[in-house]
Amino acid sequence: GLPEFVKIVEVGPRDGLQNEKVIVPTDTKIEFINRLSQTGLSVIEVTSFVSSRWVPQMADHTEVMKGIHQYPGVRYPVLTPNLQGFHRAVAAGATEISVFGAASESFSKKNINCSIEESMGKFEEVVKSARHMNIPARGYVSCALGCPYEGIITPQKVTEVSKRLYSMGCYEISLGDTIGVGTPGSMKRMLESVMKEIPLGALAVHCHDTYGQALANILTALQMGINVVDSAVSGLGGCPYAKGASGNVATEDLIYMLNGLGLNTGVNLYKVMEAGDFICKAVNKTTNSKVAQASFNA
Ligand code: HMG
Ligand code: MG
Repeated sequence: GLPEFVKIVEVGPRDGLQNEKVIVPTDTKIEFINRLSQTGLSVIEVTSFVSSRWVPQMADHTEVMKGIHQYPGVRYPVLTPNLQGFHRAVAAGATEISVFGAASESFSKKNINCSIEESMGKFEEVVKSARHMNIPARGYVSCALGCPYEGIITPQKVTEVSKRLYSMGCYEISLGDTIGVGTPGSMKRMLESVMKEIPLGALAVHCHDTYGQALANILTALQMGINVVDSAVSGLGGCPYAKGASGNVATEDLIYMLNGLGLNTGVNLYKVMEAGDFICKAVNKTTNSKVAQASFNA
């Protein structure tokens, strides 16, 4: 059955902005995150400690991490692909990190410039260092429902990579439909496989909405007992190394659906819409959230 409480992991400041061509001013990012912190969200992914040559939009990671107000009860994870990123993240004040792998060999190469096997070695170092500092580590598995370069990815491969990340100490595995090609059918088959190896309570889903399937896919995951869902305010987002990938599921639309199901999130929909309105105006975009569109036009 459906879980009673759903934890939303807000990835707007990281996934949402990483693909924006125009560099968003650091102060705007900080204000965006501070506004999100006052909505009831308990996890806000702040930035990525990746190479500024690869992702210029995240070059101000240290300033953003140091500049935000860290509200009690809110966690602020950041992406760290390797030890160099991890040490910089810790120096900037990060107390929670994520490593990000893929179930596709080609995507791994394009995204982080190494094979899946090589990436596991780097992640192992990061997660081990994190454990010594009592820093919780999350693990992403990209291309869980398809790859922009290889097409179909088998549930077996997703399970294998998820198991590696879980075994090395990641407390939560976020299964990413990076290019939003999944359907409730492929989501169900993939989760059935992964759930045989990893406890339900350690799984999250991360759905991009390229083909308009994100909410249906999330509902499928909820019905299978998953209660952690990633989303981005205003449906911002996309991966620079996954061509054609569009935004994440909008946090507003996710909350609207969860409210309708009577599931508790602790998040105030109206305040999230206001934060979405703020960032859309700042980056000169119209929202991708259907709920925000409907509400602001009402
Ligand atoms: P590399 O070039 O293979 O790294 O990049 P290297 O170890 O060979 O070092 C080369 C240079 O990079 C050196 O600098 C290093 O210092 C530097 P140089 O001596 O040439 O001046 N370097 C770094 N600089 C800053 N931070 C670091 C770092 N590491 C090395 N951490 C690297 C490897 C991973 C850094 C690179 O490929 C990269 O930055 N990739 C970007 C990955 C990324 O951010 N992708 C988007 C996020 S993933 C995503 O969106 C999917 C997700 O949302 C889930 C889903 O939707 O499926 C999570
Ligand atoms: Mg993503």
